[in-house]
Amino acid sequence: MKVTLKVWRQENAAAKGAMHTYELDGVSSDMSFLEMLDLLNEQLVTSGEEPVAFDSDCREGICGMCSLMINGQAHGPEVTTTCQLHMRSFNDGDTITIEPWRAEPFPVLKDLVVDRSAFDRIIQAGGYISANTGSAPEANSVPAPRDKAMRAFNVATCIGCGGCVAACPNGSASLFLGAKITHLGELPQGQPERWSRVVDMVGQHDHEGFGGCTNIGECAAACPKEIPLDVISQLNKDLRTALKNGH
Ligand code: SF4
Ligand code: FES
Repeated sequence: MKVTLKVWRQENAAAKGAMHTYELDGVSSDMSFLEMLDLLNEQLVTSGEEPVAFDSDCREGICGMCSLMINGQAHGPEVTTTCQLHMRSFNDGDTITIEPWRAEPFPVLKDLVVDRSAFDRIIQAGGYISANTGSAPEANSVPAPRDKAMRAFNVATCIGCGGCVAACPNGSASLFLGAKITHLGELPQGQPERWSRVVDMVGQHDHEGFGGCTNIGECAAACPKEIPLDVISQLNKDLRTALKNGH
């Protein structure tokens, strides 16, 4: 396959970026999207140009690092992570536009790499419980109802990729936040500090500059881990309860 790539290039956080066009030949439909970018970078290095900076780590859909806006969609045309997207989803002769996540709390560091440490600070603001309880207890020592355990497990699959923020016209991180609040708040072990946790995490979310949720649902449609929209209802319910109880 031969493709035309329009790629966002930006020297550093302070520099003004621009789209650059590259022609890439020899792309196999079996390549992952990131392998296609590796091929582009080989071509750039060979011709003495600087390779395109982009994030990746596991390349197995686990870590959430590979954040790219492809043809205007978070992670591209399939509901998956960018590393699990394959070139068979494109056609010979296609023009593919590749940009970083576009959200103020995720500043561009270089080319396609953004700083997502705002997510880390949201998690730090809530944590699990602040008391030091020593080493991890035996897993079955606190029985958890099966439905709650399954719900917590399912939403804990959020990999913090930021696709929900990139897809949301408000730049809201409510789906990510709802997933974290739900997985920590569903289990018996998460009940201590449940209410202060939600207030602190929502406060940090807003402080970072993420927008509010207006029930558009783009986030859940783009989420590679299929985090359901109702975690946002759970988030709002917990927040209301917390504020009603004076937290
Ligand atoms: S909720 Fe989904 S899209 Fe958002 S950070 Fe988690 S895995 Fe990524
Ligand atoms: S590189 Fe880890 S999820 Fe894509």
